[in-house]
Amino acid sequence: MLTPLRWHDGALEMLDQRILPTRVEWIRYTSAAGVAEGIREMVVRGAPAIGIAAAYGMAIAAQNGEDLVEADKVLRASRPTAVNLFWALDKIQALESGDAALILATAKEIEQDDLEMNLSIGRHGAELIPQGANILTICNTGALATAGHGTALGVIRSAHAEGKGIHVWSCETRPRQQGLRLTAFELVHDKIPFHSISDGMAASLMRAGKVDFVIAGADRIAANGDTANKIGTYMLAVLAKHHGIPFAIAAPSSTFDPTLANGDLIPIEERTGTEITHIEGVQVAPDNCPVFNPGFDVTPGELISYIITEKGVFKPPYSFR
Ligand code: MRU
Repeated sequence: MLTPLRWHDGALEMLDQRILPTRVEWIRYTSAAGVAEGIREMVVRGAPAIGIAAAYGMAIAAQNGEDLVEADKVLRASRPTAVNLFWALDKIQALESGDAALILATAKEIEQDDLEMNLSIGRHGAELIPQGANILTICNTGALATAGHGTALGVIRSAHAEGKGIHVWSCETRPRQQGLRLTAFELVHDKIPFHSISDGMAASLMRAGKVDFVIAGADRIAANGDTANKIGTYMLAVLAKHHGIPFAIAAPSSTFDPTLANGDLIPIEERTGTEITHIEGVQVAPDNCPVFNPGFDVTPGELISYIITEKGVFKPPYSFR
């Protein structure tokens, strides 16, 4: 099974997702600050995976005898949007213990629970997928973004395993290309029929009747169902509504933030402009090109036909408490 993280010899190793799929390299982290750096630089990415990594970061800190309050602070500051990061750190904090073995056991439990939630999301979600469906997805929400199997891509995996005869349209997902690099890598790995497409193709495919279902993951779901996910997700939801196509979000309970009444309150990460102006380190924009690069957008709950969780499938109007 593909996995983004492994605990080895008292350290956390991250599969370097910045260089996949052409190179497969692992980076070893031996401090909480190192793990935070790995999260910030997107060596590991995807909401559930960064939560799991942060929990292991605390295990390393406890093992090293680092100041745990400081370690928690550094990890919390790594990325702002995915609530799974804060959810996992809250779980470690709730132990009220600096015992390294206990923190490590909790990190492993968070990882194992995530895998089980994903398998359950896959089962619930696959029931919604029509036989022979063309499914459009964005970003990477698979094994590489989670403890394994995935959320939205987990539903696709489960539907494929159930013999639904599906085909996937995988959006490139500029600027970081998680769809082209990572989702395509997973779909090739699992031999699931698909085509990678550039992000601008979604509307014309829908108009041509070539999309039956749209599914995406989530970084944070507010109490009213408004959902933050990779930039471009909202655009797909608007398009799906216009073309009468179901639009689903798949996420485990660790992605819900019922403390926020609506999506306007979700902090949206703004990343460096070089993600837009440069490709593979090569400048493709003019010097001094001004850039706006939010990593996520918010899809209003009313545009989401289904929210698929490990507990089952929810439909609008949403009210998560
Ligand atoms: O910036 P990223 O790659 O961390 O963004 C990832 C996404 O937006 C995913 O769709 C989301 O985290 C769900 S992963 C199961």
